Amino acid sequence: MANTAARSAEVEKKIDEILSKMTIEEKVGQMQQLAANMDAAKLDEYRKMGTIGSFLHVLGNDTQKYIEPAEKSRLGIKPIFGIDAIHGHALLKGATVFPSQLAAACTFDEQLVEKMGEVTAKEVAADGLDWVFSPVLCMGRDLRWGRIDETFGEDTEVVARLGAAIIKGYQKDGLVAACAKHYIAYGEATGGRDAYDSQVTERRVREVLLKPFKAAADAEVMSVMTAYGSIDGKPFTTSRKWLTDILKEELGFNGLIVTDWDNYKALVHGQRVCEDLCEACKDGILAGNDMCMYTDVFYNAAIEAVKNGEIPMSAIDDSVRRILRMKARLGLLDGMPARKLPPRSVIGCAEHVAVNYEVAKESAVLLKNNGVLPLGDVKSVAVIGPNADDVGAQYGDWTYYSHPNPNPQATPKDEVYTLLKGVREVFGDARVTYAKGCVIEDGDCGADSDKAMDEAVACAKAADVAVVVIGDRLKYNGEGKDVAQPILRGRQIELLKRVKAVNDKVVAVLVNGKPLVLSEAEGYCDAIVETFNGGDMCGLAAARLIKGEENFGGKLPISFPCGVGSGPDYYNQYDYWHGGRYADVKHENPYPFGFGLSYSRFEYSAPVLSAGKAKRDGAVRVSVTVKNASDVDGKETVQLYFRDRVCKMLTPVRKLLDFKKVFIGAGESKTVTFDVAVADLGYYDENCVYTVDAGAFDFYVSGDGINFGHAELIVE
Ligand code: BGC
Repeated sequence: MANTAARSAEVEKKIDEILSKMTIEEKVGQMQQLAANMDAAKLDEYRKMGTIGSFLHVLGNDTQKYIEPAEKSRLGIKPIFGIDAIHGHALLKGATVFPSQLAAACTFDEQLVEKMGEVTAKEVAADGLDWVFSPVLCMGRDLRWGRIDETFGEDTEVVARLGAAIIKGYQKDGLVAACAKHYIAYGEATGGRDAYDSQVTERRVREVLLKPFKAAADAEVMSVMTAYGSIDGKPFTTSRKWLTDILKEELGFNGLIVTDWDNYKALVHGQRVCEDLCEACKDGILAGNDMCMYTDVFYNAAIEAVKNGEIPMSAIDDSVRRILRMKARLGLLDGMPARKLPPRSVIGCAEHVAVNYEVAKESAVLLKNNGVLPLGDVKSVAVIGPNADDVGAQYGDWTYYSHPNPNPQATPKDEVYTLLKGVREVFGDARVTYAKGCVIEDGDCGADSDKAMDEAVACAKAADVAVVVIGDRLKYNGEGKDVAQPILRGRQIELLKRVKAVNDKVVAVLVNGKPLVLSEAEGYCDAIVETFNGGDMCGLAAARLIKGEENFGGKLPISFPCGVGSGPDYYNQYDYWHGGRYADVKHENPYPFGFGLSYSRFEYSAPVLSAGKAKRDGAVRVSVTVKNASDVDGKETVQLYFRDRVCKMLTPVRKLLDFKKVFIGAGESKTVTFDVAVADLGYYDENCVYTVDAGAFDFYVSGDGINFGHAELIVE
């Protein structure tokens, strides 16, 4: 503690010293971030100045040409390199590509997610870069939104806990800076339309969305990114209330705020709240943005606005201080202890592959099993489907496939375990046949589509079991790929139907960015496995899981939709008393948040409280005994929910309060305990004041989000 204080006093002193020497041009230069793919001539001009604070999307081999002019500049402040390492340092070919955030959330395992952050940080740092634009702390609730894959799902507690865990992993030993994004309410954009206005109230933000950012601030995340959109008509980029008053002051975030890509231009040309870019830059700085991503006119506009007296120097100094603080923490300022960078050989190394395998295995969720799984030693397997051997679809967004220059031809395909490769390895080449069957495409699928379908059906007919790998692909998933209908597109359902007609063992494996409507498809499947975008090792993990060499332990961090247009279908909605349901869609979700089967069978005792009554400032312990009543070792995620039984404001039907993932050996029992502070059972009233009621509270314990054990607490 004393050391940290001394260190930060030393850092602040160093920053004061640098600030006192800086010209306005040098200060604003630090606040500018430019991109590797901007106009090349302009970029070169800025690069040579040596005073630009940061560059993004530069990969390791190119960093030196940016560092040299900086080192030669008057103050010698090095630039900081940012990269979208969203699920691994995946823009770099050869680095470890992890499952997407949504897939990783299915692990419900903070230690594993932290490890994923740590591995990514090592590979990023070994590549000479400093800053990852991750994690995404948006709530994934509207399945039309293209970026659902980047979220940790639909629940505040899960997003907050896994978010803090991955931040800890990234920033371990100060290796790289993390960036919590997108602040705030970005996932709430109306209609799931990316960056559109979010029609949510401040109360809703406080109830559901703010906690993950508070957890990030508490985990000392070094940066936060401003969302593209707006809240009830006010762009986040110009909102002093949300950026300064709430994030920096109320939540105590002392890192830097970077805009998202070209937010300042959007203020003029997209959102039309500023006359010109000068006004946009001024409004953005005054709101609390410290660094401007991409918009290069920022540099001159901000200098001019300061010279004209429109922006006080104190605002600029505060931003520059935050930027230099981050550079100091990363050892980029002269005289500050430097980081110990890992050697380049860690990139994609065997140890990292092993961690990646573990994440992929723990993130697969068994949704349905009528007894067909585990397959064991079957004689022949037909691997069928459009995503059985499609690395791009399996990776999902934010890899070298999709950003910034897609180059699928150059892909080292044989290093990636697609389902086909995994099944071949696990079941033995000779037992496996393959046919693609169809493509994932709306409308006309081309002249050969009947032939491809017939081949797949013949292939399925000749095998003991058909593994059908379906889902979506990058055309319908990822940033800028919002869809009106989250469905299995093209002829995928027809493929399942026809395969089922010739083979009575159909195992569907989903490779997709987000939950899709399954209501029709599931009738043709004997088992369903969800892998989302499972990264490099997905196919090996899934093959071993379906064979029974491994056991499933994943749970859904997000609910499946009941139907097209029925959403949002997230679990913690308010009660309804009149209507509230659709007449045409059954609103019983077979695959809700928290759901996931296993080869083990877990039996829950009734939850027991340490006391039936507690004071508002008191605490209570909830205990539940879980028995593994099978002969297979397994992992179970025990979930604790609560509800304030009667409250002056509407409260969700239940709200996740805590979760613990435990290993329980075959035939063994484990007692899982949760220590609950009554102060955490509150809500925000109509004036956004946090309140804890007296009265009855219900606790619910569950392992699947469907069956619940119950206990009652009286708060006095
Ligand atoms: C995305 C951010 C990303 C940035 C830089 C934007 O389009 O919204 O999440 O970090 O680009 O690539």
